[in-house]
Amino acid sequence: MVGLRRLAEDSREISRRSFFAILGWLAFLAASLAACVEAVRFGYPNATYEEPSLFKAGLASEYGVGSTTVLIDKRVVINRDPDGIYAFNLICTHLGCTPRYFTDVTSDLVAKGIGGLRDPLTGQSASPANPAVQGFKCPCHGSRYFRDSVNFYGPAPRPMDHIQVQKGRDGHLLLDRHSFVDLTTRLKV
Ligand code: FES
Repeated sequence: MVGLRRLAEDSREISRRSFFAILGWLAFLAASLAACVEAVRFGYPNATYEEPSLFKAGLASEYGVGSTTVLIDKRVVINRDPDGIYAFNLICTHLGCTPRYFTDVTSDLVAKGIGGLRDPLTGQSASPANPAVQGFKCPCHGSRYFRDSVNFYGPAPRPMDHIQVQKGRDGHLLLDRHSFVDLTTRLKV
C-alpha cells in the first residue's frame, strides 16, 4: 500500500514539474516573439522628416536659355538649353556626395594635356588659350561633371540622374526628385 501511495505522489510531482516546464517555455516563446516584433518595428520610423519628392521651382521664364541653376537645399540642378528645360539630382553617382558648382572644372586638366573637354550648353571647348569650363566637382573623391550632368573625370560611373520636370496648372515648374527620365528628355517651353 505504501508503495502504491508513493507511486501516486511521484507521478503527481512529475506532472506538476511538466506543467511548470511547459509554462516556462510558453513564457519564453512569448517574450521571444515580442522581441522579434519590436526589432522589426524598429526598422520602420513612426514619422519621417524627409522632404516630399515633388516641389515647385518657379516659372519657366525665370530660366534663361543656356542657364544652370543650382537649388542646393533640394540637391537639384535646373538647366535650360535651346530644346527646353531639364533637371537632375545633384547626387554623385559614385557614392552619393553632393557635387559643387565651379566656374572652372577643366583648367588643371588642360594643363596636363587632357583634351576634348567641352561645355555642353555653350559648345565652348577648353583650350590652353581658354581652359575654363563650368561644371561640378565632387568633394569626396574628385569626380567631375559637365553642366549637363555628364561625368568626365574621376570614379563616377555615369551621369547624375535626370528627373521629371512638368508644368503645373498654375504655370509653375513641378519637379519630382524620385521620378527619373532619360538624358534627352526636355520640357518644351
Ligand atoms: S562620392 Fe563623388 S566621387 Fe566619390
